[in-house]
Amino acid sequence: MKKKDIKKLLAQMTIEEKAGLLSGLDGWHTKPVDRLGIPSIMMADGPHGLRKQRLGNDVGLGNSYEATCFPTASLLACSWDKELAAKQGQAIGEEASDQDLQIVLGPGNNIKRSPLCGRNFEYFSEDPCLSGNIAAGIINGIQSEGIGTALKHFAANSQEANRLVIDERISERALREIYLRSFEIPVKEAKPTSLMCAYNKINGDYCSQSKWLLTDILREEWGFKGIVMSDWGAVDNRPQGVYAGLDLEMPSSFGINDKEIVKAYKGKKTAMKSHDKHFDNTLSEKEIDACCERMLKLIFSQNEKRNVRKCDYKSHHEIAAEIAKECMVLLKNEKLLPLKEGTKVAVIGEMAKKPRFQGSGSSQVTVSTVSKPLDEIKKYAEVEYAQGYSLDDDKDTSKIAKAVKAAKDKDAVIIIAGLPDNYESEGFDRSHMNIPESHLRLIEKVSKVNKNVVVVLCNGSPVAMPFVNDVSAILEAYLSGQAGAKAMAEILFGKANPCGKLAETFPMKIEDTPSYLDRWGNEKTVNYGEGIFVGYRWYEKRKLPVLFPFGHGLSYTTFKYSDLEISTDEASENDIITVKIKVKNTGKYDGKEIVQLYVEDLSDNVMRPVKELKAFEKIMLLTGEEKTVEFTLDRRAFAYWDDIHHDWCVNSGTFRIHVGASSADIRLTDEIKINAEPKQKKITIYSTFRDLRMHKNGEAAAEEILRIFGKSKEEVYSDDEKDNITSLDWCILRNFITMFGMKLSISKLQKILDKVNEE
Ligand code: BGC
Repeated sequence: MKKKDIKKLLAQMTIEEKAGLLSGLDGWHTKPVDRLGIPSIMMADGPHGLRKQRLGNDVGLGNSYEATCFPTASLLACSWDKELAAKQGQAIGEEASDQDLQIVLGPGNNIKRSPLCGRNFEYFSEDPCLSGNIAAGIINGIQSEGIGTALKHFAANSQEANRLVIDERISERALREIYLRSFEIPVKEAKPTSLMCAYNKINGDYCSQSKWLLTDILREEWGFKGIVMSDWGAVDNRPQGVYAGLDLEMPSSFGINDKEIVKAYKGKKTAMKSHDKHFDNTLSEKEIDACCERMLKLIFSQNEKRNVRKCDYKSHHEIAAEIAKECMVLLKNEKLLPLKEGTKVAVIGEMAKKPRFQGSGSSQVTVSTVSKPLDEIKKYAEVEYAQGYSLDDDKDTSKIAKAVKAAKDKDAVIIIAGLPDNYESEGFDRSHMNIPESHLRLIEKVSKVNKNVVVVLCNGSPVAMPFVNDVSAILEAYLSGQAGAKAMAEILFGKANPCGKLAETFPMKIEDTPSYLDRWGNEKTVNYGEGIFVGYRWYEKRKLPVLFPFGHGLSYTTFKYSDLEISTDEASENDIITVKIKVKNTGKYDGKEIVQLYVEDLSDNVMRPVKELKAFEKIMLLTGEEKTVEFTLDRRAFAYWDDIHHDWCVNSGTFRIHVGASSADIRLTDEIKINAEPKQKKITIYSTFRDLRMHKNGEAAAEEILRIFGKSKEEVYSDDEKDNITSLDWCILRNFITMFGMKLSISKLQKILDKVNEE
């Protein structure tokens, strides 16, 4: 529908109808306005498969229509493949069309601040470049089918503990570089139709009513044109939400908040507390119309694209398996894998029969079929199965003896272990990184009787691995969707070459993790004290050893990196730089390699991470084949967020480009000099003398001030070096009035400074 028609429609709506449009009809639909022909559209979870409830008003879990459960975000991110993410998105989009849904509530792309967040399986990475790009891929895929998306949860929803009230104290820099960046990339690149705001507060404001977040940054800076909906039950002060740019409250508030909007419009202050000093608890029609206009645009455009098509769920099971195959991460392999077809293996662990392939909570999909590791492995080997542990009682070690017996005389042993369902979920966080004691004891005892043990891990987030040195191989399968077991068996028996790499660091122990000292805060606030040092940015800066580094993943083949070439030795901050390298498959298997590019700022002007991921590419190489990979870097690849200027800034100086196979396996480096225009600080009486001297117009003013005190520049600074620091440099300019004997008045000083700040 055209803009002018939307405006016409809006003009015919009563204020009550307008208010009504801004909240759900029930759990999953928008409100129709029949008399004006405004239809209703439907949305449903979620990020890795649909959960369309059988009843529109049912906001509970369970009772949803069958759909395909694809690999969860925790695994999909390990593909480092935007196209693959788009493929998954497209398949989800096809199912949404079949089930007559207009919006899919996903993807989730909050940053993994701690490995303990219960919902990490629904999120991609600790790094915003990886997370943002994979999210963009999924959105492109879903939207290519004419289905809308709701990128969630905006923003910084990195813990489940107290998620409905927690106030996250986060520096502007950490928000911009890490937590918001993960959203900025997909918002700009993939243009999602909607965003879902987070439950939590950021620096005092609920995300559902933060004008700074929903309007200033999202719409005005990033150019977002879609709607923002609330997370389910995230609304506090509804009129303030309208003022801030929260278009849709979900689910229905049974009319309660619609009335609050009407009341605020009529100038009657709502009983709700305003949290924004600019918001007086009343709303103008213009403010309400802005939300309504966006809602009408979305409803009509999604309704026009409505095209219910049958989809082939069987083929989606195969797609889910293909995707999982491109994602699983071979963490360790001491000449055990791939296993030979026809070998005698023991398959141990109840998860081989009852696989854990998805997480609990709103993302849980009702599936029609699930591949089981035991059945899949049987296709390639002579198998003896032993239960090993009980999923119902994680302390029961009575099943270990039988497993040890089964393991003894086998060519190899495959242990399927990991986190049972009650260890992690939406709604709570873990308190430790351990897998059940019974799994650990089992691995310990079995590895004593057989050298050829491979542990396959099924878990939504990193676990401690006290067995890491006792077993020959470890395959990280994460929560791999309904067909994950098929991928697992194909990788174990060399039908597929593993090509996933970790999207997060596996720490040695929880005490090493960046947020350890202020994980979930108290009941009300949590302090993001580690700032920008999240994930590998933390471990590298602190020089902490890790179990498996960010970006790590093995292959059955080997790759040689050569010929790093940067397009220029020296560039200005606004130039586009290209970096080329060659990668050759030097092993015996065809395979895919993920090439990672990190940037390091060698100047020490600002505290920065050792290096940061800025680009990556996954390439397929046949044995002996060589390809050139080309990356482009723009200003942002070198910039940091400056809390003083509230802007992205680039340090002039040398930057090192690292290209490698993981964050800890850098194969090639080279340097480039970047010339940047320094941002000029506003000089006030509270600026230091050094700030004044360093300002581009400051030198003459500094000399003038010195002259007033009867000093020459040469006397104060022995040589002519601008960088030569004396104790005078740390005086603030106000000190020149009070401390040094009334030779300079405040008005005279202000005049000097006004001149400096001109231009
Ligand atoms: C979750 C969202 C989900 C919504 C609807 C909320 O509790 O945080 O991710 O989309 O429920 O199920």
